[in-house]
Amino acid sequence: MSKAHTTAVKSFNLNHSTYDKYRLSFSKELTKKFLVDLKLASESEYHTDKKILELAAGTGKFTRNLVEFGWGENLVAVDPSSGMLTTLKKNFPSIKTYEGSSYELPLPDSSFDSVVIAQGWHWFSDRASLKELYRVLKPNGTLGMIWNFDVARKESLVDTLSPELLQKGKELAASLPNSQEKPYLLSHAILGDTWAAKTGDLAYGYDVNVPQYRHGNWRNVLSEHNDYFTSIEKETFLLHDAAIKREDIYLYWETRSYITALSQNEKDKLKVKLNEALDKYVTDDDKVLINGEEYLHRIIGAHAITLTSKKQ
Ligand SMILES: C[S@@+](CC[C@H](N)C(=O)[O-])C[C@H]1O[C@@H](n2cnc3c(N)ncnc32)[C@H](O)[C@@H]1O
Repeated sequence: MSKAHTTAVKSFNLNHSTYDKYRLSFSKELTKKFLVDLKLASESEYHTDKKILELAAGTGKFTRNLVEFGWGENLVAVDPSSGMLTTLKKNFPSIKTYEGSSYELPLPDSSFDSVVIAQGWHWFSDRASLKELYRVLKPNGTLGMIWNFDVARKESLVDTLSPELLQKGKELAASLPNSQEKPYLLSHAILGDTWAAKTGDLAYGYDVNVPQYRHGNWRNVLSEHNDYFTSIEKETFLLHDAAIKREDIYLYWETRSYITALSQNEKDKLKVKLNEALDKYVTDDDKVLINGEEYLHRIIGAHAITLTSKKQ
């Protein structure tokens, strides 16, 4: 049996409190569309009688959306990191949690209508995981993965989802080949010499040896024929505005497992380089005031995919 990736489990056991504070929340707009695609909602209501397994639930960043949409006793959260689950239980004391991984779930056969995975599938995107997810899903159960990803751009649009940007994102997504490079191309197509681009490049210099969403390899096993799931049926991209305080930018990147795993000396070097890039690239147009406090504007991309179990 395979085991959960050690960098993931070690780092997330250490950083769960900062992770919970500095990582991004998930777009409610995309979550709603995602739940409709998973047959867990219609346009007018959420089917909270459907049983959901949230795998790789972490501290509950996506769980929050499910709870706000009404899930409670029909939601089960699983993660191999006891640290992450400690924070999840503090955030959502009434949600059932289990320590477990995609390779061995402490759950009965054919017991869930849907499995959802937020910001996690890239850690275990293999056939053994698909087989285990197939086992716990009911016949024709659905499987969905959702991610946030960093995007940068020059124009400054604040506060609300901008229709122009959304349109631009949709057009770009439609014009790109449907390949594993798509999210990467999408973000780089609107990338400039922005603070977000430059600081992201510095942090990404460290992520080469760990499975990451932006590398796109998570798509491979889903594209090969297998006995467990259909190929990807629905795929949605969304871009939305967000803001971060300048002093939180290092902490945001430090929640990445591959940055958590660096020595203190290397972390300090990265901090200096990030500050140099911020001094050089932040412009007045990037600055926004929210409740009297200064933030830097940035764009976040969100991406969701859904598949259906072949179990009859
Ligand atoms: C980036 S965090 C995402 C957490 C949370 N879903 C969120 O969106 O913030 C990735 C999570 O995947 C979990 N993970 C790593 N390998 C796993 C596996 N094989 N099966 C299930 N979860 C795994 C980690 O422990 C970690 O909590």
